[in-house]
Amino acid sequence: MIKSANQNIRPITTKINNSNHLEIGGCDVVSLCEKYKTPLMVYDYKTLKSMADAYKEAFSNYPNIQILFASKAFMTKAICQIFAKEGFGFDVVSSGEIYTAFKAGVDMSTTLFNGNNKTIEEIDLALKVGVGIFSADNYFELEHLNKKSKEQNKISNILLRITPGIECHTHEYIQTGHLDSKFGFDLTQLDDVIEHILSEYKNLNIKGLHAHIGSQIFETKVYEDEVKIILKEIKRINDKYGLNLNEINLGGGLGITYTEEDCPPSVYEIADIIIKTVKNTCEELNTDLPKIYIEPGRSLTGTAGVTLYQVGSTKKVPNGRTYFAVDGGMADNVRPAMYQAKYTIDCANKPLEEKNKIVTISGRFCESGDVLMNDIKMPNLQDGDIICVYNTGAYGYSMASNYNRVQKPCVVLVNNSQSAIIVKRESLDDIVSHDEMIDVSMW
Ligand code: LLP
Repeated sequence: MIKSANQNIRPITTKINNSNHLEIGGCDVVSLCEKYKTPLMVYDYKTLKSMADAYKEAFSNYPNIQILFASKAFMTKAICQIFAKEGFGFDVVSSGEIYTAFKAGVDMSTTLFNGNNKTIEEIDLALKVGVGIFSADNYFELEHLNKKSKEQNKISNILLRITPGIECHTHEYIQTGHLDSKFGFDLTQLDDVIEHILSEYKNLNIKGLHAHIGSQIFETKVYEDEVKIILKEIKRINDKYGLNLNEINLGGGLGITYTEEDCPPSVYEIADIIIKTVKNTCEELNTDLPKIYIEPGRSLTGTAGVTLYQVGSTKKVPNGRTYFAVDGGMADNVRPAMYQAKYTIDCANKPLEEKNKIVTISGRFCESGDVLMNDIKMPNLQDGDIICVYNTGAYGYSMASNYNRVQKPCVVLVNNSQSAIIVKRESLDDIVSHDEMIDVSMW
């Protein structure tokens, strides 16, 4: 089976150059840090493009496929431009993501609005900017979507989000398809929901069903189960209510290779199992092939992105660990603190030096849990060294905060020895820009 870049630890253009430095996208990583300062996030265009191409190619023999980038993984205007150019739509989950896509000039009919508690204002905004389809999650949303659609004289297309009862083996915080999940309708509630929509909500048009079973998935079998459950449910609903639902959204979830222990399948393996199962199940049920949506997030941007930090202080605990502190940490990457996530790292200014010291890389934030990597092998480190953490391209910047009032990092895109800023580093003025002073004598 053909491989895809989510099976790599490093961006596909990663090399060691003549100065013995790491190079990504033809750019010397140490020079990038001198130019843009640290912490710095670098995205390799060729890796992004190769994953987009892999998804397109892998599904190219299916007649009706819409690939949506799950923008929660990393949402900026430039990323919208890149994936829109690839012909992808966008899975958006908030007014902020909707507005980013809108401002980036995305054709809003290619967007799908997900979420378990869309506010009335968000529903209104989505309708006004012309979001293409809603993954309707609950009765509250159905009621308000119908009401707002009526006010705006529109019929809204919806998929019904279901929990198919599939448990995948990933961190429990990122499992979503199991029965006890906060997302979507339980299959036992579906008939009531459909009857209610048909009798009460004239401004809603049900197109099909949606499920998302989890994230950082390494198994292919779960997709097979998901497809079968959804298609059988659609057939049952169509027969019972005389409807013609014919769209299925299988969500995202394909994993990436954070460390040598991770073995995600390639995009081609996932596509293969999805297409085969859809075709076989439709034949068995004697139904037409549905339109398929998929919503990959992590696998599209994860491998392309790396974070570069500079080493500052060191602490050697007597008879204990040696800590090297870097100039970022849990505010630009909360995943180690939140999910005990593991990463692979290199020292960018001496990548060839033997990794023969066991060290702990801590962040600079005021919290003991702000440790990026415990007990990992590195060469002899000293202050000023540049550490490259791989696979931070998904759920890194998008989950970043200003904890300790530290500015969010700069993000650059690299390709063919060129670099361009896609998100500016925050300034100290950005940090105070929303604060209002008060007249303390009044209080
Ligand atoms: N579709 C839906 C409805 C989702 O909820 C998600 C992710 C995706 C698609 C994209 O899934 P992906 O292809 O990225 O696995 N913050 C966590 C991950 C949370 C995923 C939330 N939903 C992490 O850093 O691991």
